[in-house]
Amino acid sequence: MKLNQDNIPKMGFGTYDRKGEAGISAILVALETGYRHLDTAQDYGTEKEVGQAVQRSGLDRDDVFLTTKIANGSLGKGALIPSLRESLDNLQIDQLDLTLIHWPSPNNAIALPVYIEQLAEAHAMGLTRMVGVSNFTIALLKEAQTILGDLPIANNQFELNPLMQNKNLASYCKNTGISVTCYLPIARGILGDVPAIAEIAARHDATPEQVALAFEFAKGYIAIPTSSKAERICSNFLATKLTLSEQDISAIETVDRGQRVIDPEWGPDWD
Ligand SMILES: NC(=O)c1ccc[n+]([C@@H]2O[C@H](COP(=O)([O-])OP(=O)(O)OC[C@H]3O[C@@H](n4cnc5c(N)ncnc54)[C@H](OP(=O)(O)O)[C@@H]3O)[C@@H](O)[C@H]2O)c1
Repeated sequence: MKLNQDNIPKMGFGTYDRKGEAGISAILVALETGYRHLDTAQDYGTEKEVGQAVQRSGLDRDDVFLTTKIANGSLGKGALIPSLRESLDNLQIDQLDLTLIHWPSPNNAIALPVYIEQLAEAHAMGLTRMVGVSNFTIALLKEAQTILGDLPIANNQFELNPLMQNKNLASYCKNTGISVTCYLPIARGILGDVPAIAEIAARHDATPEQVALAFEFAKGYIAIPTSSKAERICSNFLATKLTLSEQDISAIETVDRGQRVIDPEWGPDWD
């Protein structure tokens, strides 16, 4: 099937911190559970683990959607493509499904066109099926799309969960056909303390994390939760079977606190 931003598997597995043998085992559990989308990054140091886990799973390369992100240190002129080739080697593949710019260059040290043009070149060379960005604001998305011309920004990955709904940015992405990937989709396991979410979870005999993920899927987003524990990897996956009512969704919309967790001083402010 030809992939586009509309058919990226909605349930992905994040691989931040999934390092070494323990990391490979956790990623394998995810693949055995049914996750068919793995999210890594040059900065996580988990590309090799992802490659190993896919190999060991015995799944065909085409059955697993693979995303990596270009590190800040690889945005400069002439740096992006060699870094992406190294990622492909780490992952033991010839082509990424999705390559993202991990962050806009801190303090604009490298001008946006320098790395967005290299991203387009990587696509033209066949190193990645789709291109996208992460932690990009509306203004940066507009600037990047102008540079890319006909090549769509397939995806923007940013912090989004019931406590940080990032509504302006998510709605801009939706209206312009950019798929949204939620990172910190389960707010690192603290959602059971939110009464409205705890109540919905109890009513559906679900976990607060499943409720958060089901909310994100109902909104049309992709989510990439992670865990080091097999039981949680499996239970989070069951969110794909949970359907929330319109009332549940409206109630979750009201718990948004704009509570940002990932906030480097050089990162852009959210819209
Ligand atoms: N683009 C970016 O800049 C960016 C930034 C941050 C993250 N990401 C991506 O997003 C992925 C997910 O983000 P994240 O790992 O920060 O946050 P997360 O997925 O929201 O939370 C993961 C944490 O929650 C715990 N957890 C998992 N399932 C749980 C459950 N059912 N109940 C209670 N606690 C649970 C895990 O601990 P245990 O291991 O103990 O289960 C882990 O510490 C990352 O792996 C990475 O791929 C991208």
